[in-house]
Amino acid sequence: MAEPLRIALAGLGTVGAGVIRLIEANATLIARRAGRPIVIAAIGARDRTKDRGVDISAYAWEDDMTVMAAREDVDVVVELIGGADGPALALARNTIAQGKALVTANKAMIAHHGLELAEAAEAAKVALKFEAAVAGGIPVIKGLREGAAANEIERVYGILNGTCNYILSAMEDTGRDFAEVLAEAQAKGYAEADPAFDIEGTDAAHKLSILAAIAFGSRIDFAAVETAGIARILAADIAQADALGYVIRLIGIAETDGAEEDKSGNTPRLFQRVQPHLVPFDHPLAHVDGATNAVVAEGNYSGRLLFQGAGAGGGPTASAVVADLIDIARGDIGAPFSVPVAELEALAPANSGHRQGRAYIRLTVADRPGVLAEIAAAMRDAGVSIESLIQKGRAEAEGEVLLAIVTHEGPESAGTEALRLLEGSPSLTAPPLVMHILGD
Ligand code: NAP
Ligand code: HSE
Repeated sequence: MAEPLRIALAGLGTVGAGVIRLIEANATLIARRAGRPIVIAAIGARDRTKDRGVDISAYAWEDDMTVMAAREDVDVVVELIGGADGPALALARNTIAQGKALVTANKAMIAHHGLELAEAAEAAKVALKFEAAVAGGIPVIKGLREGAAANEIERVYGILNGTCNYILSAMEDTGRDFAEVLAEAQAKGYAEADPAFDIEGTDAAHKLSILAAIAFGSRIDFAAVETAGIARILAADIAQADALGYVIRLIGIAETDGAEEDKSGNTPRLFQRVQPHLVPFDHPLAHVDGATNAVVAEGNYSGRLLFQGAGAGGGPTASAVVADLIDIARGDIGAPFSVPVAELEALAPANSGHRQGRAYIRLTVADRPGVLAEIAAAMRDAGVSIESLIQKGRAEAEGEVLLAIVTHEGPESAGTEALRLLEGSPSLTAPPLVMHILGD
């Protein structure tokens, strides 16, 4: 058998410890499939004495991560520290500069610096791989880069954050409140070091921007992702959605609006949004519960592809990290984004106002005569057609009611205009919440 592939592991938390467990448990199988063993040459984290639930005594410890790539006995550095900048980025730059391959699960770093790192890796002719950065254990980057490589991808969307999905489905199943369920997701190792990244939609936006770059062959544009999180969702929204035939899921969606414009010679634009959506009971994503992630990609020849699996947690994420290592052991150093960075298209962001769709609008309003008429007038003046309206009193806030409005299909700009007309009205006692309804 060929020489082993020797790796250094930087970061020994949920994912890092998972990688040690997996490499130890499946060593023989991995060596057979990779054509050579994958061995751990060095490890490092902040605290050498911490109990990580795995025996690390056999591995050389490095306090200084920047030394890892320079070690003669290391071929690949695996970055599992996290954070867009700081030690993770310094390690990544240093690794590539030393002419060594880099594997990372760090979506924040790839969303912000992926193009720079990929350019450097291409120039140095070393591998840069980040399967674990999108949807944990699901091989969705491989699926798009390899399995669906012959297709033009028309749309890619899905459930990209395990913590949010865990929280939403637990709220749905148990009626418990948001904060209590968040603590549980953190305890299970799903949440980011700063859970605000999860619940505000940032983590899903990081992943979506990477996925869009792979799917559309475009430059990553994280700043253009329209992002909203789940912290304002009430048990009442979940109950209303249920009564109307929907579940609520945080959905990331990316598509180009280029099909028609292309014919007149214009460049396609890229639409990217992360937002809680109402998902019809009969849609496959409505049945994705817990920390599970799912990604739908629509190829022009493959049709609809559904990738589903564990989106977070040590074992599943380690599975994706080690899959990248196996590719490297086999000699795969293809362009990190499928096509060289210089050939990625710079797609301008699409304006969401032109989009057509249906929406759920929750208004918290004063319970007094004339309020409903004022809201109906704003909807009428903005050209929003109402499909249904449910009004519910709130036991915890006397004199206040929740109005759940579902609109007919129409331009998103009309809904935005209706809410602008209501802005500052004393009838509204809290900011409105808008969730779009996932279409086919
Ligand atoms: P984690 O449990 O917080 O572990 C982070 C590790 O990095 C710890 O071992 C920590 O050391 C080490 N570290 C932090 N700052 C450091 C520094 N300045 N210098 C040296 N080491 C440092 O994080 P994780 O959940 O394993 O996530 C790691 C990466 O994988 C992140 O990029 C995350 O976004 C990504 N990811 C995570 C999941 C998941 O389910 N958790 C899934 C997909 C992707 P100590 O242990 O000594 O404190
Ligand atoms: N915090 C992330 C999640 C980890 O909950 O999905 C996986 O990327």
